[in-house]
Amino acid sequence: MQTSEPAGALTSRPQPDADPDATVLPNSRLAPDWWRDAVIYQVYPRSFADGNGDGMGDLAGLRDRLPYVAGLGVDAIWINPWYPSPMADAGYDVSDYRDVEPIFGTLADAEAVIAEAHKLGLRVLLDIVPNHTSSAHPWFRAALAAGPGSPERHRYIFRTGRGDGSEPPNDWASVFGGPAWTRVTEPDGRAGEWYLHLFDVEQPDLNWAEPAVHAEFASILRFWFDRGVDGFRIDVANSLFKHPDLPDLAGRDVRSFAEPGSEEHPFWDRDVVHEVYREWRAVADSYPEPRVFVAEAWVSSPERLARYVRPGQLHSAFNFDFLLAPWRAPLLREVIDQSLRALEAVDAEPTWVLSNHDVVRQVTRLGRPQPTSLVARPEPPDGALVVDLELGTRRARAAALLMLALPGGAYVYQGEELGLWEVEDLPHALLQDPTWERSGHTERGRDGCRVPIPWSGDRPPFGFGPPGAKPWLPQPSAWASLTAEAQSGRADSMLELYRTALRIRREHPGLGSGVLTWRGGPDGALAFDRSDGFVCVVNVDAQPFALPPHDAVLAASGPLEDGLVPADTAVWLQI
Ligand code: NOJ
Repeated sequence: MQTSEPAGALTSRPQPDADPDATVLPNSRLAPDWWRDAVIYQVYPRSFADGNGDGMGDLAGLRDRLPYVAGLGVDAIWINPWYPSPMADAGYDVSDYRDVEPIFGTLADAEAVIAEAHKLGLRVLLDIVPNHTSSAHPWFRAALAAGPGSPERHRYIFRTGRGDGSEPPNDWASVFGGPAWTRVTEPDGRAGEWYLHLFDVEQPDLNWAEPAVHAEFASILRFWFDRGVDGFRIDVANSLFKHPDLPDLAGRDVRSFAEPGSEEHPFWDRDVVHEVYREWRAVADSYPEPRVFVAEAWVSSPERLARYVRPGQLHSAFNFDFLLAPWRAPLLREVIDQSLRALEAVDAEPTWVLSNHDVVRQVTRLGRPQPTSLVARPEPPDGALVVDLELGTRRARAAALLMLALPGGAYVYQGEELGLWEVEDLPHALLQDPTWERSGHTERGRDGCRVPIPWSGDRPPFGFGPPGAKPWLPQPSAWASLTAEAQSGRADSMLELYRTALRIRREHPGLGSGVLTWRGGPDGALAFDRSDGFVCVVNVDAQPFALPPHDAVLAASGPLEDGLVPADTAVWLQI
């Protein structure tokens, strides 16, 4: 069991041998439960900053830009997978969990990023992918070579086909489109068994009924914890276990969940998955400075999500209901209330999120006509609805103040602080998300929210890489006004709104963890008190109204009109 801290780990106790040059910013929450109200910035490394000019973001670029992240006033970063990978699914197809993809750099670069982040007062979360490996992973290669019935095959989900063996074992579809099964050629050259892949063909699902899989992942966690990593975001945390009989979905969409009260789904959110997270929690808690987890778990209800953060399991879980909530006051309130209630029942801390690398950026999402009810997942295909980017930007500003005033923690996806929109006109030939191919070119996929970040200058690559380096996805020329450089110091910019809100959030004792008390207000508005006189007022879609009595306006997402709060505007008050 690991008991010592690596050099450079961010700990809650003063370190006698700490680096005397380390600058620990005030946003470094020096407490073991720092995660309870942390704001965590998501770094998608391929699109963050390109240090070597090959058009792809990398760890050298990330390291250079860490002061920018620390300067935002966030507490931690979560870095999407940086492991060696054939990149069939942008790194979520891992071929070695204990190293770094050469496109991004080396293990030494990763250690330097961790150390540098800690120096700047930022904790570091990585991404762990336990549902599947890459088909290039040595385990899968060994499974193919070893043949049917071998222990190597038992680490994955291999089955003989139906009928004469030429039909897939059941009717499951891949989340990215097409069947979830692929037939292999056996070592003797004959067509043989099928393996399961809920995602891409190159992402074979692991068999979590196999003890070796448990042991391997516990060891991977320790490998990175021993290098000072503070925690993990868990990829598709709800999917690890499949019904042993692999029953047909019988016409149900692969992305739909079990209805509350009905039988367990054959592979989403099965109860047995919680055993894994009890094991992982024990690993995290075995460190003097306990490590933390956040679950990516798309489930059917806030109550099902709360099961992942029960005592002895994970620390937090992304609140996708909040992300998906339409910009309508009663629906936002319903989602907030339901989440708070479900989490309170298990004594867990809420976290809030508005975007990530899998969903349409909020400026675009909120700039579309808003549904009148809590919508079914998934979102409508890109471009299916008219977008008003100006309106979307106004709403995204208000949504940011709403999110950062709610109790608990929050996530910020790189570029949302710049007000980037979804790039919906990427040429087909450049689309890389496997969804595009696997859906038979009917779903464009998620590349539109992954376009490289504009840092500076007036033309692409906007400082993403050295001049002349061509980013792996083209940036819109209109992003010239959205670069970090162009927005810095401009009081009305999205960037300065985030900086201001994050600064107030760190300073105001009423923000972060704690309770929320709703106030009355006009229909179409949300207003709530936090402690110490902090009030958040959001005019979602009401007529302009007067602010409640207050001592000071701390922040506003947009201008007031004749002293009234117009629609699509949030205001923070001190009363
Ligand atoms: C969720 C990740 O966020 C997404 O990008 C990935 O494609 C799937 N899991 C499969 O790993």
